[in-house]
Amino acid sequence: MTNQETGHYINYKKMSENLDIVRSRLQRPLTYSEKVLYSHLDDPHGQDIQRGVSYLKLRPDRVACQDATAQMAILQFMSAGMDRVQTPTTVHCDHLIEAQVGGEKDLARANDINKEVYDFLASATAKYNIGFWKPGSGIIHQIVLENYAFPGGLIIGTDSHTPNAGGLATAAIGVGGADAVDVMAGLPWELKAPNVIGVRLTGKMSGWTTPKDIILKVAGLLTVKGGTGAIIEYHGPGVDSLSCTGMGTICNMGAEIGATTSIFPFNDRMYDYLKATKRQHIGDFSRDYAAQLREDEGAQYDQLVEINLDELEPHINGPFTPDLATPLSQFKQAVKDNKWPEELKVGLIGSCTNSSYEDMSRSASIARDALDHGIKSKSLFTITPGSEQIRATIERDGQLQTLEEYGGVILANACGPCIGQWDRKDIKKGEANSIISSYNRNFTGRNDANPATHAFVASPDLVVAMTVAGTLNFNPITDTLKDKDGKEFKLKPPSGDGLPTRGYDAGRDTYQAPPADRSTVNVAVSPTSDRLQILAGFSKWDGKDATDLPILIKCQGKTTTDHISMAGPWLKYRGHLDNISNNMLIGATNEENGEANKVKNYFTKEYDAVPATARDYKARGVKWVVIGDWNYGEGSSREHAALEPRHLGGLAIITRSFARIHETNLKKQGMLPLTFSEPADYDRIHPEDKVDLLCTELEVGKPLTLRVHPKDGGAAFDISLSHTFNESQIEWFHDGSALNTMARKA
Ligand code: F3S
Repeated sequence: MTNQETGHYINYKKMSENLDIVRSRLQRPLTYSEKVLYSHLDDPHGQDIQRGVSYLKLRPDRVACQDATAQMAILQFMSAGMDRVQTPTTVHCDHLIEAQVGGEKDLARANDINKEVYDFLASATAKYNIGFWKPGSGIIHQIVLENYAFPGGLIIGTDSHTPNAGGLATAAIGVGGADAVDVMAGLPWELKAPNVIGVRLTGKMSGWTTPKDIILKVAGLLTVKGGTGAIIEYHGPGVDSLSCTGMGTICNMGAEIGATTSIFPFNDRMYDYLKATKRQHIGDFSRDYAAQLREDEGAQYDQLVEINLDELEPHINGPFTPDLATPLSQFKQAVKDNKWPEELKVGLIGSCTNSSYEDMSRSASIARDALDHGIKSKSLFTITPGSEQIRATIERDGQLQTLEEYGGVILANACGPCIGQWDRKDIKKGEANSIISSYNRNFTGRNDANPATHAFVASPDLVVAMTVAGTLNFNPITDTLKDKDGKEFKLKPPSGDGLPTRGYDAGRDTYQAPPADRSTVNVAVSPTSDRLQILAGFSKWDGKDATDLPILIKCQGKTTTDHISMAGPWLKYRGHLDNISNNMLIGATNEENGEANKVKNYFTKEYDAVPATARDYKARGVKWVVIGDWNYGEGSSREHAALEPRHLGGLAIITRSFARIHETNLKKQGMLPLTFSEPADYDRIHPEDKVDLLCTELEVGKPLTLRVHPKDGGAAFDISLSHTFNESQIEWFHDGSALNTMARKA
């Protein structure tokens, strides 16, 4: 399955047999995503299969965890009392490295600051037979693509951009730590059978258009909610013109439209990538099985989008949301109309989304063009290589030196500014300014914790071009620049190799394989640590309806997992539930006063921070609920966003709708994610009302009653709430959490 491990094999024969069973039952052509999922069914004979309806029980091939989410996943795995993981698993140290001055120094600083966490992860992975990628090795999704993804594979990862591996025909799905724990423990993993949205590509890209522009366009068409409950499956003749890593970029950013995952069918470009990454044997095996690694003739999609690559323009998306897509030709006008700050302060390339050899080569070609005209970047400019292998290869082949000469700062092979790990110095908090990145996500404050920063996302090519001009008012296709002598010139369209002609240079060895003898490995967690805390299980449901519950906060508008459990400085408490709970919902807007982190305590009538108010209710032995708006919990797989409300005494989150991963995460922690059967009922609730929740009514497919006691003493009224619980998920609620259910049944 990978060069990093022995004893794990790709089993196309078994997958084929499973598909034959499913095919004989369904009697219809299958999409490629269905083939990958159904070939991994735990029970292909008995499993109910209906897209958008059934819950599939699946057997993923692998689990991948990044360091921020791995801490809690491993702490949870430890509490289940097993001696080794049952499914191949890896941990990747990428999220905890702050960008400050540049790669080497930032990495040394991170090793120092995070020593306790890295030591915990290094020892726990060794103990439980998990592969460990040390700090400096690179970003999880890049390493998975380089080493672990394979055509037809099913991978789950504790990070929302796990779908990146779809560029290698893998169904790779972002999950919460609790799901990862299930699979690490050998239990089947449950997923609501996704719908399939087809994106048919025709034509061929050229000039300044890149694979990134395909997903920027798709995000504009489908919006942040458009992919919910669906896999985006790319197909059509246009696919063959894309590089494997380019397809990875497209799949990566499918997370921004809420898709379960995104995937491409196996093709020769993937074979070339497998060969370049020393896995030709997998490529050859995939070729033998190629008929199963694409959609069947006549496969039906729930929705079909068509994009002609001959006509596709480069796009720039943002600010503040990744689905605000503007074609390059209209961007200057949009900057003017919306009064977005014109000066470009910082351009950032790299991240898990766009740091392939191809991306770096094309970027370097633009930088070289500028340098040849005697000019350098006008804006600050940073580069985050996706992996040590990419960094070492572009250092060997010269792109890295070109980017540095152009004015770029090479950051560590890590997430850095993409996840807010950025000690930004060029601007004061609150000052309006524009930045543009080749990253994937641009919610308010995500990169630099400054809500006034207008963050745009685009291809790395456009990012570099914009830094040459130092302004958003620049279109490299139509506009000229001035060289060092004041002579006008136009940038050449970017060029670069998809794969290194001399092969990849692996760089430093940053991988720790688990030892053969694991019996002597000790995993230590200090009881006085403020970063790691051994988990205590949550208590069981008391079997009663909950009455007289205050509403902790009625959230208005966008409530992402960043709003619920903010990243940035809080990341260091990922392994300490009580400490990190002090960030619970501090970014959410209170509908009552339009402010963040300021809610009225029902008992004291005083305004206080959200976590402090929840702690007060908990100390009084009072459970509480949250009211939320549309697509509550969009953004990431962060299970802390579900653990924290549970830890601080929450019972239910009641919204107009949920993002899938967050909804599942809430269930795993024994919370009740519920939706208004009639979305307009959101408006009938005042933040100071009290509510009863008739939990005893919880049954598969049946609504639940919310009884509202208005704050003005008016007559109580009932509201119907819907849910997506199935039988086994109801057990989680009864037992107090999925982990409790697992421990009970073990
Ligand atoms: Fe890291 Fe940003 Fe990707 S946080 S995993 S580089 S989305």
